[in-house]
Amino acid sequence: MVDVESFIPEAKAEIQEAVGDEEAIIALSGGVDSSVAAALTHEAIGNHLTAVYVDTGLMRKGETEEIRETFAFMDGLRVVDARDRFLTALEGVTDPEEKRHVIGEQFIREFEREAQAADARYLVQGTIYPDRIESEGNIKSHHNVGGLPEVVDFDGIVEPCRDLYKDEVREVARALELEEIISERMPFPGPGLAVRIVGEVTAEKVEVARESCHVVEEETEAHEPWQAFAAVIGKATGVKGDNRVHGWVVAVRSVESRDGMTARAQELDWQTLQRIQSRITGSLDNVSRVVYDVTHKPPATIEYE
Ligand code: XMP
Repeated sequence: MVDVESFIPEAKAEIQEAVGDEEAIIALSGGVDSSVAAALTHEAIGNHLTAVYVDTGLMRKGETEEIRETFAFMDGLRVVDARDRFLTALEGVTDPEEKRHVIGEQFIREFEREAQAADARYLVQGTIYPDRIESEGNIKSHHNVGGLPEVVDFDGIVEPCRDLYKDEVREVARALELEEIISERMPFPGPGLAVRIVGEVTAEKVEVARESCHVVEEETEAHEPWQAFAAVIGKATGVKGDNRVHGWVVAVRSVESRDGMTARAQELDWQTLQRIQSRITGSLDNVSRVVYDVTHKPPATIEYE
């Protein structure tokens, strides 16, 4: 387990050394990893840091508004509305790895533009140890590691949490006195809802994923999962009212894990599952079916793409 007492000053010193008197920009997603990276960097270099939150349109319900409020203390948090650009870039992309690369590339382009405006030569990221392992092992290109385009217009990338596991990052977050909403936040993948949609990402599927994820998070809260969410995995026939509908199939996933490297599907009770099912099919006309994913990791991964 990380020794937070020594980790925090060491990380700050490393950031100061890497960035010097230059300006840096942080890719803030609102998750615990990037929030810790932002807080450490903010303490290390003060207002030489510009925090940028990119609204990709692939975020959870209400997330952008929440982040705006939570990080209001960080002077000059930039919220970039890139929703249309991400959706356009993802048009016609069906391969999971290509999807990650398209998103990684779009992220970097957004940051390059913001960095130029802020005159920043350094990019700070919330990469943690499992992100690196999975990308290096070619399991998946996490958007903030293997998904980077080859030419990145920064002098340096600073990753203060790169050797930490998720529970260690949370410990650092508590030591830094970040709000509980941040330190205990459920992990959410960098590519967002795009990896909870099998096949092409469209505005319609994103809305189904977003609303369904919201229901699943609410209904599973008492079970304290490591992660719980919904994914749009295909289409199937159903009957709504007097009509046959060819609607979306939503898969519900709720897993226990320590570090995301392995995971166990949770044994949710029937009532919880039925409540999730009826809320999702009841509120979304275009969903015909809800299924529960009982697969552990391995052999499945946590996310769908
Ligand atoms: P998988 O799907 O690989 O997920 O079993 C393991 C953990 O990592 C998260 N995840 C990501 N996080 N960028 C991230 O920052 C990504 O590209 C990414 N892909 C998966 C996932 O939500 C889970 O917690």
